[in-house]
Amino acid sequence: MKAVAVTPGTPNSVHLTEIEEPSLEQFPDGKGVLVKTLKVGVDATDREINEALYGNAPQGDDYLVIGHESFGIVEAVGPNVRRVKPGDYVTATVRRPGSSIYDVIGTNDMTSEETYYERGINLRHGFMTEKFADEEEYIVRVPEGLKHLHVLQEPMSCAAKAVQQAYEAQHRMKVWRPKLAYVLGSGQIGLLTTLILRLRGLEVYTIARGEAPNLKSEIVTGMEATYVSTREKTVEELAAQTGKPDLIVDATGSSKLAFDAMQYVGHNGVVVWTSITGGDENIEIPSDSVNLNWVLGNKLLLGSVNANRTHFESGIRDLALGDMMFPGVLDKILTHPVDGMDHYDEMMRLLVEDKDALKVFVNIAEG
Ligand code: BGC
Ligand code: ZN
Repeated sequence: MKAVAVTPGTPNSVHLTEIEEPSLEQFPDGKGVLVKTLKVGVDATDREINEALYGNAPQGDDYLVIGHESFGIVEAVGPNVRRVKPGDYVTATVRRPGSSIYDVIGTNDMTSEETYYERGINLRHGFMTEKFADEEEYIVRVPEGLKHLHVLQEPMSCAAKAVQQAYEAQHRMKVWRPKLAYVLGSGQIGLLTTLILRLRGLEVYTIARGEAPNLKSEIVTGMEATYVSTREKTVEELAAQTGKPDLIVDATGSSKLAFDAMQYVGHNGVVVWTSITGGDENIEIPSDSVNLNWVLGNKLLLGSVNANRTHFESGIRDLALGDMMFPGVLDKILTHPVDGMDHYDEMMRLLVEDKDALKVFVNIAEG
């Protein structure tokens, strides 16, 4: 069957290839799920993988099937599968377990080992193929009523984890009632984080480069958050106006902006970094002042990667609630469909060059 792959280590190697069809026989415990792929989304991680800045092939292979934002329909299940049945819409988690205690208890996203296994990214083949199979444990049901938000499930899970981790870490405060949040970046993670924080009742400022009005500002406003263009107002000016936020989530993809964020969070606040930056940028920072401020303000910096099953589940609940609360707004994120895996080069071109391509995804099959 067809698959889209790269040759890790070789820049711009994305290509179409033929791989063997998966089968339920690969799961002797009877817990395998066979999924017909309907759509797969791509993001900045796929761009970095194709630029050979990031990602590795599974051991013994010289290619990596890409695609980690999956959406499909269950075709068949093993005799011991209970959670899903043929005909259900599903997505799949991305990280597979290593052997640390965190992996053993199903929180692969928190592995303490340096090596991590991620489908479509690192050491495991991805989902940009006609069919994929996996253990029931890694398959998450998507309600039929959320079918129109297909490939957003995986990015949503990462946003859900980032916010959940911030709240979890803030238990250190005994009482933490955040009211004001800044979200830096208005790509998919920035927008989905904005949604989650709005649903938690925070006042949210989503800060990005482009001048409003534009599609992203329309989506932010549609979720009753405030869009701020840094061309019109600096983060410093905004903080002078709103007061310093309790929480900042950086999803800009720029390590410079991630560090900059440290200057603006309020006392007892938390900054969460979510971007994967495979490059080698070096910046100067006002380290004495940040250090002093962070110590005097008991501030916390948190990195957040990936997501486990619980984050997929809570992300799905928030997508459902968000879709009811702000009808028609989330659909607008899904801007750039590509028709079929044959058009993989068009997919990469949109991802790399088209500044308006908020979300690029491939339609693999009808369903
Ligand atoms: C994916 C995550 C993954 C991370 C690091 C992101 O693009 O969505 O699932 O953990 O990259 O590889
Ligand atoms: Zn991703």
